[in-house]
Amino acid sequence: MQLAIETFNDQFSYFPGSRYMGSKNKIIHDLWKHFSDLDFDSFLDLFAGSNVVGYFLKTKGKQVKTNDFMAFSHITSKAIIENSHTQLTQEDIEILLSENRNNGFIQKTFKDIFYSEDDNIFLDTVRQNISMFENEYKAALALSALVRACKKKRSRGIFTFVGERYNDGRADMKRTLRDHFIENIDLFNKAVFDNGQENASYNERSEMIKVTADLVYLDPPYFTPKSDNDYARRYHFVEGLVKNWEGLTIQEHSVVKKFESYKSPFAKKETAYSAFEHLFEEHKNSIIAISYSSNSYPTKEELIQMLKQFKSSVEVHEIDHTYSFGNQNHKIGNQNNRVKEYLFIGK
Ligand SMILES: C[S@@+](CC[C@H](N)C(=O)[O-])C[C@H]1O[C@@H](n2cnc3c(N)ncnc32)[C@H](O)[C@@H]1O
Repeated sequence: MQLAIETFNDQFSYFPGSRYMGSKNKIIHDLWKHFSDLDFDSFLDLFAGSNVVGYFLKTKGKQVKTNDFMAFSHITSKAIIENSHTQLTQEDIEILLSENRNNGFIQKTFKDIFYSEDDNIFLDTVRQNISMFENEYKAALALSALVRACKKKRSRGIFTFVGERYNDGRADMKRTLRDHFIENIDLFNKAVFDNGQENASYNERSEMIKVTADLVYLDPPYFTPKSDNDYARRYHFVEGLVKNWEGLTIQEHSVVKKFESYKSPFAKKETAYSAFEHLFEEHKNSIIAISYSSNSYPTKEELIQMLKQFKSSVEVHEIDHTYSFGNQNHKIGNQNNRVKEYLFIGK
């Protein structure tokens, strides 16, 4: 007898979403409409990004595994998908906010680039305090709250320009990072819950990872000739913050002090095709679902043919979706140029 899967529908409202290029936040219910028809217990999101898809599936009682090569994505999944119980206590918050002696790396390196001197001093202090946490879930919660605080206090949530070029006067821009951080700790604490499964978060290259699941979801960067799908370029500051810039080489000539981007085979047309084929081969015994858009390469027909080499049944669903940013090819309001979002399912 199959037991009804318990769901935690209200819990999804606690997901601490934030702007993320290519996030599926707005179409999560469309995705679920199609996923819920499939027979699966475990779910692997190989390009987790904001983690909205994995978190939603966690609320549906599935065993969730996420992966992304960006450490700041991985740490958020660790905090609220893999972690089922641990929260930050009032005492932890006091430790996080306490003064310390640190090397002032952020103050020196990012002076007058993104934040005020006071905000930079705060970041150096908290980052050092987080390094002292031995509990990996507490550290992940604190880092996730710090990353979200930093994104909130940047127009567009990105780190590609100096200062406040697109400051629209939002109240978020006026608050201190300390205020944002304290508020975000509360949001992340509330997002922690147990769905009765062993969930896991990975930080590897999707083409290397040796993990699979009943349903494998692929949402790689979409390759289009004109658009920029470089995640490290947009989010380098929060990625560096999570890694404490360890192992990263800052490009000194760059005005925003970014580090050299991670290479992804999905960022180039020459390598995107073989990267897809490699993932299809690797996960051929699972149901494979892919999000992709109509202005990208491989094209819809090409992806169908590629997937058919590994799967006997291939369906394509069209989801009406307008990205608010991140895609220069997309002309808002022009129906002819409207980009269609596809969901491919290979069984
Ligand atoms: C389109 S976004 C995913 C968005 C996500 N589904 C969401 O709803 O937020 C693509 C993600 O793939 C990650 N990525 C790109 N190349 C990768 C690779 N080779 N291995 C692992 N992750 C990669 C990026 O860091 C980015 O977070």
